[in-house]
Amino acid sequence: MSLHRRGFSSRRVLVAIAFSFALCILYYTHLRNTQSDPLPELIPEEDVVFWPTEPPEIWAERAVQVKNAFLHAYHGYERYAFPHDELTPLSNASTNSFNKWGVTAVDSLDTMLLMGLKDEYERALPMIMNTNFSLPANTAVPFFETVIRYLGGLLSAYALSNDTRLLTKADELGAKLLPAFNTESGFPVYAVNTYEGVESGPPVGMLAEIASWQLEYSYLGKITGKEEYAERATLITDLFYNANLTFSGGMYPTKWDLTSGEPYDLHLSVGAAADSAHEYTLKQYLLTAQTDKENLEMYIRMTTHVINNLMFISPQRHLVYVTDMSTYKLEDTRVTHHFEHLSCFFPGLLALGVKMLPLDDLESVGINVEELTRDLLPRDRGGYEALSEFNLTDLHLWAAEAIAQTCYITYADQPTGLGPETVSMRAGGKFGITRWMSAVRAWDRQGRRGPPPGVGDKLPWSEPPGLVSTKERDRATVTRDYGVRNIAYYLRPETVESFYMLWRVTGDVRWRYRGWHVFQAIEREAKTSSGYACVDRVHMKVPVLLDSMPSYFLAETLKYLYLLFLDEDIVPLDRWVFNTEAHPLPVFAWTPEESVAYGITEEHLPSAVS
Ligand SMILES: *[C@@H]1O[C@H](CO)[C@@H](O)[C@H](O)[C@H]1NC(C)=O
Ligand SMILES: *[C@@H]1O[C@H](CO)[C@@H](O)[C@H](O)[C@H]1NC(C)=O
Ligand SMILES: *[C@@H]1O[C@H](CO)[C@@H](O)[C@H](O)[C@H]1NC(C)=O
Ligand SMILES: *[C@@H]1O[C@H](CO)[C@@H](O)[C@H](O)[C@H]1NC(C)=O
Ligand SMILES: *[C@@H]1O[C@H](CO)[C@@H](O)[C@H](O)[C@H]1NC(C)=O
Repeated sequence: MSLHRRGFSSRRVLVAIAFSFALCILYYTHLRNTQSDPLPELIPEEDVVFWPTEPPEIWAERAVQVKNAFLHAYHGYERYAFPHDELTPLSNASTNSFNKWGVTAVDSLDTMLLMGLKDEYERALPMIMNTNFSLPANTAVPFFETVIRYLGGLLSAYALSNDTRLLTKADELGAKLLPAFNTESGFPVYAVNTYEGVESGPPVGMLAEIASWQLEYSYLGKITGKEEYAERATLITDLFYNANLTFSGGMYPTKWDLTSGEPYDLHLSVGAAADSAHEYTLKQYLLTAQTDKENLEMYIRMTTHVINNLMFISPQRHLVYVTDMSTYKLEDTRVTHHFEHLSCFFPGLLALGVKMLPLDDLESVGINVEELTRDLLPRDRGGYEALSEFNLTDLHLWAAEAIAQTCYITYADQPTGLGPETVSMRAGGKFGITRWMSAVRAWDRQGRRGPPPGVGDKLPWSEPPGLVSTKERDRATVTRDYGVRNIAYYLRPETVESFYMLWRVTGDVRWRYRGWHVFQAIEREAKTSSGYACVDRVHMKVPVLLDSMPSYFLAETLKYLYLLFLDEDIVPLDRWVFNTEAHPLPVFAWTPEESVAYGITEEHLPSAVS
C-alpha cells in the first residue's frame, strides 16, 4: 500500500486503523468459511513473449495441412478398416469397439462437410444409410457413446447438408435408444439392446453418461416434432435442478442413483466420468436460444464452485489447474491434485461462457444469486460473496487463459511435444500450493502487478529428458511443479478445443501458435504410413506408438485444429453449439406450442420457484 509514501498525519493513521479494522471484520464475517488459506506473497509474473510474428497469410496454408492430415487418416481408414469402426494404424487392420456401425465414418461426416471433402462424404453415405441399428443382435450398445458419436454425427451432418435421409436415420437411431430411459428416475441407464429393445446396466450411473445427451435429443425433437425426444431433456433438467446438492456446493457429483434420481457420492470433478455433464448445462442453454434458465443457473453454480474450490496454482511456475475432490465427512475433504487431459475442455467452456453470457450482469438474464445459494452450506454461500469482489467476465476469462496455458505447458514440456493423459501436481506441505482464488485476491490486494496469477506467458521446461535416478526425478518434479502420472497421449482433442475457443473469443494469435506446435508434434510423432496412432511415453525422447486411432481424432482433434487455422469463421459460436464430440448443432428456439407440448413452461423457470 502507498500509505507511508505520503508521510504520516494523525488523521490518516486513524483512518488507516479504522480501515484495517473494517477489513478484519469483513474478512472474518465473509471470507473465513471459504478461505482458510493465508494470502500468499506473490512474485509478479511476467509475460515471456517468445512467439514469432509471421504474416497472417500463413494460417490458410496451415489449415490445408490439417485437411491433408484428415485425408491421410481417413483414406487409411477407408482402405483398411471401412466399414468397421476404427483403423488400427500400425497393423493396417480394424477394430469394432463401437457397435460395428462404422463409427469413424459417421463421426467424420461433418468434418468432411466443413472441409469440403465431397468425394469422401459420398463414398461413406451408402454404408451409413444401410446400417441396421438392430445389429449385431443380442448385444447391448452403450447409450452415451452411441449418442455423442453416432446420433450427434448424423444430426450435425444433417444440419450442415439438409439431406433428409440423414434425419430419417437419426430418427431411427434416436428411437432405438429410447429404452435407456426406462428407469424409475428417468435418468438413462448405461446400455440398450437395440434388437430386443431392452435396457441394461448398473443401478448407479456416471454423471457424464447420464447427462450428456440433452443437446442431441432436444435438436432431434425440434426437427422431427416428436414429443418423446424433446420432453426427455426437460425432465432431466428438472431432476438435476431439484436434486439435493447441499453438500456438494451446488455442483453435480460424479455418481447418481438411477432409482431415486439423487446423488450417490460426493466426488466432484470436471474430468473423467463427469466432464461433459457440466459442459451440457451451458450448451443446452445456448442451443435453445438462451431460454432454459435452469441450466444457466446450474452452470453458474458449477463454475462458482470450481473456481473457489477446485482450482489451484503451483508454487514455481504458477501453473493453474483444475482438479477433483471427495468429501467423506463435512470436515474431511480430499483433493487429489491430479490434472487430467480430459479436464482441458474446461477453459474452452469458460471462454464460451465469457463470449455468450452477461457474466458481469447476471440479473439481466434473471439470475438471482440469493436463489442460487439458497440451499447451500454457509461455506459455499461464502464462495459467491468471494467472487462478487470481481468482475465475473474478467475472472472467468483469466481462469480460462490460465488453465489452457497449463494444458499447453504439459505438451511443450515433453520431448515429444505431446501432452500426457494425467499429471500429478505438487501438493501442499513445504511446496506451498495455493487455491487460485487466494492468489487472485492477493494479486488484487497487492496492486495488480503483472498479469493475473497463472495468466502470464510461460516458457516450457528446458531440462534434458531421460532422467534416471529417483533423486533426479524428484528434483525435476519440484522444478516443473508436476510429475507425469499417465504417460500416454491418446490423440485427444480437449487442449486444442480450448485453444480454438480462446482464439475465437480473444483474438489472441498465441492460441493459434500453441495449436500449431501441437499439430506439428502430432505430425512428427503420431503419423504412421496408414493413419495416426496414440502415443505412449510422451515424456521420453523415443516414444512408443499404440495400434489405435480413435474416431474422435477425426471428429474433434483435426476439426478444431482446422477451424483454429482457418481464417473464415464457418461455425459462428452464437449460431452453432458443438456437442461433446465436436459435432455442431444449430441454435434454435422452441415455439410457444412446442414449449407447452414439451413441458418447457414458465413454472420451470427459477423466478417462479417459491
Ligand atoms: C500399411 O499400409 C501402408 C500404406 O498402405 C504401408 O506402407 C505399410 O507397409 C502397411 N503396414 C503393414 C504393417 O502392413
Ligand atoms: C435388422 O436386423 C434385425 C436382426 O437381425 C432383423 O430382424 C431386421 O429385419 C433387420 N432390419 C432390416 C431393415 O434389415
Ligand atoms: C439448409 O437449409 C437452410 C434453411 O433453409 C439454409 O439456410 C442452408 O443454407 C441450407 N444448407 C445447405 C448446405 O443447403
Ligand atoms: C439434503 O440432504 C441432507 C442430507 O441427507 C439433508 O440433511 C438436508 O436437509 C437436505 N436438504 C434439502 C433441502 O432437502
Ligand atoms: C467487466 O469486464 C468486461 C471485460 O473486461 C468489461 O467489458 C465490462 O464492462 C466489465 N463490467 C463491469 C460491470 O465493470
